[in-house]
Amino acid sequence: MSDTDKRMAAEAAVAEVRDGMLVGLGTGSTAAHAIAAIGRRVADGLRIRAVATSVASADQARGLGIEVLDFAEMPHVDLTIDGADEIDGALLTVKGAGGAMLREKAVATASTRMVVIADGGKRVARIGAAKLPVEVLPFARAFVFATLRTMFDAVEARGGGAYLTDNGNLVADCLGWRGDAHALAAALQAIPGVVGHGLFLTEVDAAYIATDGIVATLERGG
Ligand code: 5RP
Repeated sequence: MSDTDKRMAAEAAVAEVRDGMLVGLGTGSTAAHAIAAIGRRVADGLRIRAVATSVASADQARGLGIEVLDFAEMPHVDLTIDGADEIDGALLTVKGAGGAMLREKAVATASTRMVVIADGGKRVARIGAAKLPVEVLPFARAFVFATLRTMFDAVEARGGGAYLTDNGNLVADCLGWRGDAHALAAALQAIPGVVGHGLFLTEVDAAYIATDGIVATLERGG
């Protein structure tokens, strides 16, 4: 994992940003490089508006002079740039180590184009080794965690249960799943009390992945 590779992937993706766009800002250390690069372009005269997938990203963007709007008022986003924890050659992606996966998925789904940025350590032959974060309604905590424990080898409450997302929910970090990712996503979504999870199976349109200073691009269907 290299911070230079994260920055290079981020800067390659930010080259897609055009005047007039509503841009979705991701969350995490790689997305922070993208926000910084957008901030530099805004300082040079780029005219865009943004929505953010976390309070931290909104704060960073505003600090750089980027106009950040309330996603609650925005039915549509032009381009979203966000990080990932794992991504495979078919753009199946795991996200959520930063705990923002529910807002990230809403913004990604609202976007005409969603691009992932990552260092080469995130590129995998098959997703499934990274922790899969599941966002859990606190009201249903015991039931949901018990159900998740029947589906995964190991399930841990992030921060021992003290960690809360920007939405005020718990995160279950789940390890050890096999089989079809689409079936798992459907099974998770069917549990009352699960409000989101980090499997992004259809949302990602392209990825910029930098390895040892070289940025490779993956395009859906390309
Ligand atoms: C946050 C995320 C992040 O985008 C993902 O965890 C990658 O983070 P980083 O760029 O710091 O490795 O999904 O919820």
